[in-house]
Amino acid sequence: MMKLNEFEKRLVAHPIRRWFQSKVELPILVSLFKGSPSPTPMVLEIGCGFGHGIPLILEHFKPMQLTAVDIDGDMVEACRQQWQHHPNVMISQADAEQLGFQDNQFDLACNFAVFHHIPQWQKALAQVYRVLRPGGYFLMEDLYRAAICNPLSKRLFDHPQTNRFDHQSLLDELQSCGFEIVNQAHILNLSGMILAQKPRHYLS
Ligand SMILES: C[S@@+](CC[C@H](N)C(=O)[O-])C[C@H]1O[C@@H](n2cnc3c(N)ncnc32)[C@H](O)[C@@H]1O
Repeated sequence: MMKLNEFEKRLVAHPIRRWFQSKVELPILVSLFKGSPSPTPMVLEIGCGFGHGIPLILEHFKPMQLTAVDIDGDMVEACRQQWQHHPNVMISQADAEQLGFQDNQFDLACNFAVFHHIPQWQKALAQVYRVLRPGGYFLMEDLYRAAICNPLSKRLFDHPQTNRFDHQSLLDELQSCGFEIVNQAHILNLSGMILAQKPRHYLS
């Protein structure tokens, strides 16, 4: 497992990043739904980090239950301290490459800048597909190969450098898992946002 280094931890927790996520990223991500999002009683957040995405998911999607997972025990602990008493939030430690949830359980899965950290991200996509119910959505924003495999980024961060993806290879892999692409956008192939849906009627 590759943990975030101290610099990235500070960046993720910085008020400017939190402001940007809440005022810019989430409104754009929600707008990918073309109208109001359908009801999402069961939501999974993968790689919740310090939990800054949790209030945003609660605000925008109003789930009955939000399950937030992260692979890093320290992150999970920090998140638990803040959220363990909220009746709609469950925090647990899990690796996105092998999620211990039943099939067809969630209405929505969210990835806020996590998959670029996952060595076998294709396995994680297949897991997300498995745990979503037919008709469920996968909402994601992430960083691409060009953003993380360059000398500056390599100096500042600890990101896997092999088997990375760009916008098109991510779309291709989503589709080969079985997802339909509902909406998508990218910025100079450095980062992108995608809303994908598991078909309502699908062949397993
Ligand atoms: C850049 S941080 C983003 C955190 C949070 N989503 C946010 O937007 O503030 C990436 C997070 O993904 C987690 N992560 C990395 N690999 C993971 C995996 N295989 N399964 C679950 N979480 C993972 C890291 O521990 C870290 O908390």
